[in-house]
Amino acid sequence: MGKKRLFLINGPNLNMLGKREPATYGKKSLEDVETLVKEVAAEQGFEVKSFQSNHEGDLVDWIQRAEEEAEGIVINPAAYTHTSIALRDAISAISKPVVEIHISNVHERESFRHTSMLAPVCSGQVLGFGIDGYRLATLGMIQKIESEGRNHS
Ligand code: DQA
Repeated sequence: MGKKRLFLINGPNLNMLGKREPATYGKKSLEDVETLVKEVAAEQGFEVKSFQSNHEGDLVDWIQRAEEEAEGIVINPAAYTHTSIALRDAISAISKPVVEIHISNVHERESFRHTSMLAPVCSGQVLGFGIDGYRLATLGMIQKIESEGRNHS
């Protein structure tokens, strides 16, 4: 059997990480995030397939793909967090666990960021820890996958 795999999915404007509003999102790039998640996952015996898009439908496609190709998803849906019924339905449609991560503490920001359309259908949420939140989300996701595997065997 091949290595267990996670999907790391990043939504709109996260391709500009490091350049975009550094006071809020820090100076690390998306590539730095992908490297971090790959390292953390590799230590736990997982490989990572990483995907970023500014387009809602492409994100839906990748969430659906996880059903066949991954054990779980770590996702920063970015602005679609607050608006997307399509992403929520895609998460509901698959059986694999999903963890939502936000770099900033959305609850200390504008009120439109306080609502997540996705949180009710995710296994967990990590926010407000900067880029390090990706490490926490990845470890939480792997622990969830491993403990569910134990429960089912
Ligand atoms: C974000 C928070 C969202 O409200 C925002 O639209 C983003 C980034 C974060 O990681 O803090 O693009 O998801």
